[in-house]
Amino acid sequence: MRVQTREAIRSCKMQDLSKLENEALARIADAGDEAALEAARVDLLGKKGSISEALKTLGTMTPDERKAKGPIINGMRDRVTAALAARKGALGDVALEAKLKAERVDVTLPVRPEMQGRIHPVSQILDEATAIFADMGFAIAEGPDIETDDNNFTKLNIPPEHPARQMHDTFYLKAKADGTRHLLRTHTSPVQVRTMLAQKPPIRIIVPGRVYRMDSDQTHTPMFHQIEGLVIDENSHMGHLKWILEEFCRALFEVPKVEMRFRPSHFPFTEPSAEVDIRCDRSGGEVKLGQGNDWLEILGCGMVHPKVIEMCGHDPAKYQGFAWGMGLDRLAMLKYGAPDLRAFFEGDMRWLKHYGFAALDMPSLAGGLSR
Ligand code: DAH
Repeated sequence: MRVQTREAIRSCKMQDLSKLENEALARIADAGDEAALEAARVDLLGKKGSISEALKTLGTMTPDERKAKGPIINGMRDRVTAALAARKGALGDVALEAKLKAERVDVTLPVRPEMQGRIHPVSQILDEATAIFADMGFAIAEGPDIETDDNNFTKLNIPPEHPARQMHDTFYLKAKADGTRHLLRTHTSPVQVRTMLAQKPPIRIIVPGRVYRMDSDQTHTPMFHQIEGLVIDENSHMGHLKWILEEFCRALFEVPKVEMRFRPSHFPFTEPSAEVDIRCDRSGGEVKLGQGNDWLEILGCGMVHPKVIEMCGHDPAKYQGFAWGMGLDRLAMLKYGAPDLRAFFEGDMRWLKHYGFAALDMPSLAGGLSR
């Protein structure tokens, strides 16, 4: 084809030139990618390209011929050059578009779609409870699982020989040379002691953590979880405590109202003391909150005993406050309807698949706690 075209160029007849231009423009329009377009450019405008050949014929013409054909052939070269540039731009856009499409990242996809792990209900309820208390302005405090007898009992107004010690079914460690024995803390309350010894009021903390007691049945395991709260300042009272606990239950159970009952009770480290029940309905094999005629105990609380404040280095004439402690596992059982506490700690993947939570759903008050 090129040879034929060349013959035609040499003759430089007008219809041959326009045929050459039409062919050139068609070839450019047909180029499907940048490589095909570059091949077309070489064939048309390269050293031996057909348009270049046509330009070369100008040198062999008489001045009159050149005057007549020069503008025509040069115009053809300009149009073909422009068509090449336009096509190149269009192909570039298409290629860029395709590349952008191929490289698009869907940020709404799960990061690791193959992820199998689940968040344990206790971790979930802990995250939910912390989100609620953090929103109220509480700081999180922690303490060790292995405690001194002094922090776990004596400084909480439970001296040696106090009957409350028996109720705690304590795991003791081996006695040291001086006769003192460490223990696995039986509640999170020793962190009240640690915090009061370490800082001055105002104190507003919550203390989530593991606790241990020698006990095992459907609703008791030797290790379980508590969340403790402590507020110490100059004028906090039971009314504040009541509001905090009511707001907490409303937010945790995601209901507009939870009816609570404060029942007089006794703890050595609080005076007065109360146990808190929430109204529920236990007929029909499951626990429904906010209705019915049953009451379910969820926590112990009270005004911190002046002796505790004093033993922890503060003046009970100046400072007062309240505290509470509740079982996290209990709350998880209630909220998620898991009937047997022992299953919480068996590590059975089928159980966790059923009761667990997706790993990327962090509970927050604004986003909904346990969607
Ligand atoms: N420590 C108690 C227990 O484990 C619970 C408790 C009751 C904690 C009253 C408190 C409180 O802070 O004020 O049974």
